This record gives sequence, structure tokens and C-alpha cells, in this order.
Amino acid sequence: MSSPRKVIVIGAGPAGYVCAIRLAQLGQDVTVVEKEYLGGTCLNVGCIPSKAMIAAGSLMHKIGCASAMGITATGVSLDVNKLVEWKAGIVARLTGGIGILLKNHGVPVVMGEATLTGKNTVEVKTKEGTKALKADDIVIATGSIPTEIPGFAFDEDNVWSSTGGLRPKNIPDHLVVIGGGYIGLELGMMYSKLGSKVTVLEATPGALPGQERDCVKVIERSLKKMKIKLLTETFAQGYETKGAKKLVRFKGKTPGNELPTEDTIECDQILSTVGRRPYSAGLGLERAGLAVDERGFLPIDKSMRTKVPNIYAIGDIAGQPMLAHKGSKEGLVAAAVIAGQPEEYDVRCVPAVIFTSPEMAAVGLTEDECKAQGLDYKTGSFPFAASGRAMSLMETEGFVKIIGDAKTDEVLGVHMVGPEVTELVAEAALAIEMGATVEDISRTIHAHPTLPEALMEAAESLHGMAVHIYQKKK
Ligand code: FAD
Ligand code: NAI
Repeated sequence: MSSPRKVIVIGAGPAGYVCAIRLAQLGQDVTVVEKEYLGGTCLNVGCIPSKAMIAAGSLMHKIGCASAMGITATGVSLDVNKLVEWKAGIVARLTGGIGILLKNHGVPVVMGEATLTGKNTVEVKTKEGTKALKADDIVIATGSIPTEIPGFAFDEDNVWSSTGGLRPKNIPDHLVVIGGGYIGLELGMMYSKLGSKVTVLEATPGALPGQERDCVKVIERSLKKMKIKLLTETFAQGYETKGAKKLVRFKGKTPGNELPTEDTIECDQILSTVGRRPYSAGLGLERAGLAVDERGFLPIDKSMRTKVPNIYAIGDIAGQPMLAHKGSKEGLVAAAVIAGQPEEYDVRCVPAVIFTSPEMAAVGLTEDECKAQGLDYKTGSFPFAASGRAMSLMETEGFVKIIGDAKTDEVLGVHMVGPEVTELVAEAALAIEMGATVEDISRTIHAHPTLPEALMEAAESLHGMAVHIYQKKK
């Protein structure tokens, strides 16, 4: 057996800590350097705290709707401090768990900010002073940070970034959200359910740019139902404070008016969520012969190697999509490559899940992408309004749409909007990874009554054979 390689992983988010644990499992000598918190953005100020608070918002909303089931709940109220405390408890349990996992795998953690000083050397500024570390290989997993726009510096008081938005002291009466993407809609809808009036200012012509438009239409309808105002083709310009209120200036298009209109909107709180950018500040890339591309990402090959062969990059710093599970997968690949295994990042799809109301999920190609690639494809779909399980959950909005190759019947893409589709997408991802056909899905017995039956029915509908919706014979 060859002797273990000495590896430094910089950053302990879902890319870095997963890579470090796998390196230890593969017998390598690994050290993690983390400047702020184990678990990174995802566990501390991203995926986990946001989903906890969104679950609380959804519960409040469900209680409000329960009268249709004959359940009357009176005196329902929200203790914001307790909600934030509960969420912090989940974060503490999970991040503590990462610490224990690293310890049990014999991975030392150095808390401090890492700077590359060469191709094999790293300097770490810790509370106790500067430490010099040496390694055969270095894995950069420094993640990303929220983008600021002019006029809206994050002070986490008047203007929240997503981090401030997950630590409210109270629920604002009127929240203005800048950016109608993933975070803007997830948190905007959550605040609406917790009692805020919400206005979303979005620069492009629609919410969630880049997502399947049929699915987004359902979300835009839901925004209307929730009385959330979505102003599209609208750019926030700046704001003034007026006592406790904020006056947000924006330029946009009013319906029927082609010229940009300037206006103001008064609110109690601003949440700015216009994207995230890869984070490499202070990392000393140039000292190791590395540079980021024009978008700030570190270019890598399929082995996760940068142009310096013993330096790897994984997660948000290494490119789109900036999703936790993509980073973790890259971490596993980098670990295997470093351990000398014949591995590369060779995935057919990365599922995306959006915790809006209803939820959205997607995997594989969209119809627009099929068209752009000149593919001959067919689609099938099934509405949750025809699902007994969705009815019993009182969540009948949305549908499952499946895209299959017209000749080979291979599943090309699945797009869903509706109840618990963030869970349903796993089956679709497996189908695409395994090169399954649409018929494979329709031939698989799906337990009844469950939501995944909708995927089976969508698959059957692609062949004109859905049982629980009427399809005219062509
Ligand atoms: P990060 O998680 O950002 O971790 C990087 C780590 O590196 C940090 O801990 C940082 O302190 C450390 N670091 C940086 N520089 C240095 C240095 N020089 N020295 C030492 N340490 C350093 N994704 C999903 O897939 N699903 C979701 O539901 C989801 N929800 C989200 C909700 C919100 C509000 C936000 C903000 C993001 C969400 N994301 C979600 C995105 C997800 O959080 C990121 O894609 C993911 O955290 C990226 O992982 P990473 O390991 O690359 O980086
Ligand atoms: P985003 O890219 O999803 O959305 C940003 C939105 O802001 C876009 O719609 C964009 O058009 C708009 N915008 C940009 N500049 C603007 C301006 N000046 N005025 C008005 N609108 C403007 O970015 P977001 O929501 O900040 O999330 C960052 C990333 O974090 C996501 O892209 C995703 O990778 C990840 N994430 C994933 C989640 C999940 O998987 N469920 C949840 C939250 C975040």
C-alpha cells in the first residue's frame, strides 16, 4: 500500500467536510481549516436554517387552513424569539455532529483563515497566532457569499442579506425583497406565511429565471393568491430611512407603459437576495499560480483539479450550480482522485429543489434545452388535482411533467411543482442516472395512495395511457 497523502481541505461546508471525511475513510492524512463555522453556509446560514423556518411558516399557514377539515385553532400566535432559538438548536445539533464526525474519523480541525503561500503550503491565522501547514494536496472549498448591490449595503438592520433574514427580531409588517430568485421567493413566501405583507422587486421579466416556465407560472399564481406583489423588470435604486420606515426607490415598467417608471415604496424591512458570488478573498491564489475566471470561479477539470495538479477546487467556488449536494458530490470525487482511485465527476444530472409554496423541483433537461439541442422529444404530465393523496393533504396545486426521448423513450428531464416534490425528485434523478426509459417508470408499481404515483401517471400520460386523467386518443 502506498503511504497516505497529506491533504489540507480549506473550508468546512458541505463540499469541504464531506471531502475530508471521505479522505479519512480512504486512509489519507487530512486536516481541515475553517475560518468561521463547521458546516459552512449550508448548515449555519443557508439550507438548514432556511428550511427550518420555512417549515414553521408552512405549519402556521396549514393551521390557518385547517378549518376546512373541521379543525378550528384559536389563539394561534408566533413567538419569534422562540422560533429563532428552535432553528438555532437544529443548527447547533448538526454542526456539533460534523465536529464529532471529523473527530471520530481522526481529522484535525484548525480554526482560522487560510492563505496559500505556495503550491504545497498554507498559512493559517488562528486566535493563537499564525500556523504554517504543508501538504501534498490542497482542496479549496471556500464557498460563496451574498452579492451586494449599490445602495443596499448589508447592515443586517435596515438591509438584510439572507443571513439577517434568518435571524429576525420580529416579523416585519411590510418586507421588500430585492430579487425574485431562489432565496427571495423561499424567504419572501415564508415571511408572508408568518404575517408580513411582501413585495418582490425582480430585474427580469419573471420570477425564478432559468427554471421551467410552466412550473414558474404555478408559483406566480401562488404569489398572487398569497397577495405577494411581484414587480418584474424592476431595479431597486437605493433607499432612505424615515423614522423606523424605509423608502425604497426603484425603476421599473408599469403595465402598459414601455418607458421605465420611477417610484418609491415604503416598508419596514429590506431583504436583498440578488445572487451569490464565489469567495476567494484573501486566499492568496496568485501565490500558488492560480487565478479565478471572469465570474470569480476557480476553473477545474473532471477530476476537480485546478490548473495546478495538486490543488483541487470543489463546491460553490468551483462553479454553477451553487448547490450543497453538487459540492458534496465534487468533494467525494476529489477525495477518490487524491486517494488514487480512477474517479471523475461524471453525472448526468444535478437535481434542483426550491422550497417555495408549492415546492418546485427539477432534474435533467427542460423543454427549451431539448429544443436548443435539436432533440426529438415527447412530454407527459399529471396534475396533483387528480391525486387522492394531494387532496387529502389539501395541496392540489401543481403537476409533474416528464420529458422523454421520442425514439429511445429515455427519460431526459422531469419538472415538478406541487406538494413535497422536493422529495419526489429523487426517483426522477435515479431514473436519469440509470438511463431508465419513461416506460420503466410507468411499469414500476408505485404504492397507493402516495404523491410519487403522480410521476408514474405522468410517465403513462407520455404514452397516452394515463389511467386517472382522460386523454383523447390521437
Ligand atoms: P460553503 O457552505 O459556503 O462553505 C465554505 C466554508 O469555507 C465556510 O464555512 C467559510 O467560512 C470557509 N472559508 C472561506 N474562506 C476560507 C479561508 N480562507 N480559510 C478557511 N475557511 C474559509 N443549497 C441547496 O442545495 N439546497 C438548499 O436548500 C439551499 N438553501 C440555501 C439557502 C440559503 C439562504 C443560502 C444562502 C444558500 C442555500 N443553498 C442551498 C446553497 C448552499 O448553501 C451552498 O451551495 C453550499 O453551502 C456550498 O457549499 P460549499 O461547501 O461550497 O461552501
Ligand atoms: P438567484 O440567482 O437564485 O436569484 C437572484 C435573483 O435576483 C434573480 O432572479 C435575478 O434576476 C434578480 N436580480 C439580480 N439583480 C437584481 C437587481 N439589481 N434588482 C432586482 N432583482 C435582481 O440568487 P439567490 O436567490 O440570492 O440565491 C443564491 C443561490 O443560492 C442560488 O442561485 C442557489 O444556487 C442557492 N440557493 C439554493 C436554494 C435551494 O436549493 N433550495 C435555496 C436558496 C439558495
